This record gives sequence, structure tokens and C-alpha cells, in this order.
Amino acid sequence: MNNRFEGKVALVVGGANADESRLLGFAGLSSLKIARDGGKVVIGDIDDEAGERSVAKMKEAGLTADYVHLDVTSETDWLAAVDTTVAFHGRLDIMIMAAGIPDRGATIESTEVDEWRRVMDVTNMGMFLGTRAVVGPMRKSGGGSVVLISSMMAKVVRDQANAYATSRAGMTHFARSAAVQYGADNIRVNTVLPGWTLTPFTSSMFNDEWSERLSQRVPLGRVADASDIAGPILFLASDEAKYVTGTELLADGGVVGWIGSLD
Ligand SMILES: NC(=O)c1ccc[n+]([C@@H]2O[C@H](COP(=O)([O-])OP(=O)(O)OC[C@H]3O[C@@H](n4cnc5c(N)ncnc54)[C@H](O)[C@@H]3O)[C@@H](O)[C@H]2O)c1
Repeated sequence: MNNRFEGKVALVVGGANADESRLLGFAGLSSLKIARDGGKVVIGDIDDEAGERSVAKMKEAGLTADYVHLDVTSETDWLAAVDTTVAFHGRLDIMIMAAGIPDRGATIESTEVDEWRRVMDVTNMGMFLGTRAVVGPMRKSGGGSVVLISSMMAKVVRDQANAYATSRAGMTHFARSAAVQYGADNIRVNTVLPGWTLTPFTSSMFNDEWSERLSQRVPLGRVADASDIAGPILFLASDEAKYVTGTELLADGGVVGWIGSLD
């Protein structure tokens, strides 16, 4: 523990899985670490049960944390969450946006229109509404850091899963655009591009056999856990990255750089 987030207030969206007695999400673990390192945290999510449970445990441990229901596709929810955060703590310095849903992995022709729209809504409408809601309070706080959780799928494609990959690529370009627009306000906007990571998001898919198969495609030889991704997120959120904006931090164990074995 150190005090790198002392005096900072963070809104962590999609961070409900922050209960250490269960499988952690990486935004959940980021919430825990920010609070342990002196920050004040508000977690927003649609999984109210997980969010309330996580926050209750953080409070028991003497940390400053609260939970708000926040559906990232709702502008009303974003504005209410930001208002609550500022009402509780008087400022807003960090926003991490990790809410996401997978697609079914269908071809373009077999992707339902509603499925495409839903993935785009959660990821791309979510990042737009969220960034828009936080820049005002961050400007008043003298600056801030927005960290959007994209995916290594922003860089590569599979034969299917078009909606997810396209939405994730949209996040990186949006972050560059926001970084340019808000640089003069000392508001930094960056993306983290995680690779295959065992979290609640993937736990139904990543059984032992699947993890073993994936690991063979990872130069570092294993799939990630939440701590592998929370590190890069917290670096970008913190003042250690105070001259970093508009960039992409790929945390994929080397997958995207590898063309594969020629044997
Ligand atoms: N785990 C991986 O392998 C991996 C890899 C690359 C990117 N990602 C992305 O990382 C992000 C974080 O996922 P994680 O792996 O830590 O799992 P996670 O399940 O802990 O986090 C995702 C959270 O998003 C929330 N959510 C879903 N829809 C929402 C909505 N409309 N409004 C608010 N919250 C909503 C869920 O309730 C959940 O708490 C996701 O966006 C995911 O797409 C995950």
C-alpha cells in the first residue's frame, strides 16, 4: 500500500466485482487498489448485488467506497452518478469505464441487428455519455484521467465476433479525439487493451482446457488474471502517467505481436 491516490476521487464503472472472496474483475480490483492507496471510490454498475456486496466489504475494511446503480447506456444514470460522486466527495479526478458485453461470435450475416446495436450501445454510447458527463467536474478539479477499457480485439480480428471487435476499435479512436479536445483542461484520456483474462466476464468460457489452449497462443505462456490488467489501468489513472494521453496500453501477454508458430 502507498498513498498514490491520496486526495483523488474515482468513479469506476463496471467495477462491481471487487469482492476478494470471489473472482475479481479488473475494474473491481482497480477500485480496491485505489481505495487502499488513499483514494475515494464510487463504483457504478448494473449488477447491484455484486456492487453492494463489494462496497460493504470495502467499508468493513475501513476504505472509502460507495455504490450507485449505473447503466452506461443511460445519460440520466451517468449524470446522477457524477452528481452523487461530487456531492459525496466534492470533486472528481478519475473515471474508469469497464462496462461491456460480449457478442455471440456470429458472422456479419448472422448477427442480429439488435445484438449489434446492444454491443455498440454499451461500449460506444457508454464511453461517449460517460466522458461527456465527467469532463465538467474534472475541469473544476484542475484536470483528470479517463481510462477506457477496450480490448486487444481493437487491434486484431477473429473470423467472427464483429460487433465486439468493432466497438473496441471505436474506443481507441474516441480516446484520441477526447484527448485532443480536453488536453488544454489537463484531462487525459487513454485506453487499456487487455488480452485473455480470467474474470467473471470470461469464467463461463475459460475452463482449464480452454485456458490451456489459449495459453499456447500467448508469448508469456498464460492467460491473465485481474491483477495483470489492474496494473496498467492504475498507471494510466495515476499521476505517474501525467504526460500520457490519447494512447493505447496493450496488456495482452504479447498475443497481438505474434504471427504464430510456423511449425
Ligand atoms: N476478461 C477478458 O478477457 C477481457 C479482455 C478484453 C476486454 N475485456 C473487457 O473488460 C471489461 C471489464 O471486464 P472484466 O473482464 O473485468 O469482467 P467484469 O464482469 O468484472 O466486468 C464487466 C462489468 O460490466 C458490467 N456491465 C455490463 N453491462 C453494463 C451496463 N449496461 N452498465 C453498467 N455496467 C455494465 C457488468 O455487470 C460487469 O460488472 C469489459 O468491458 C470487457 O469487455 C475483458
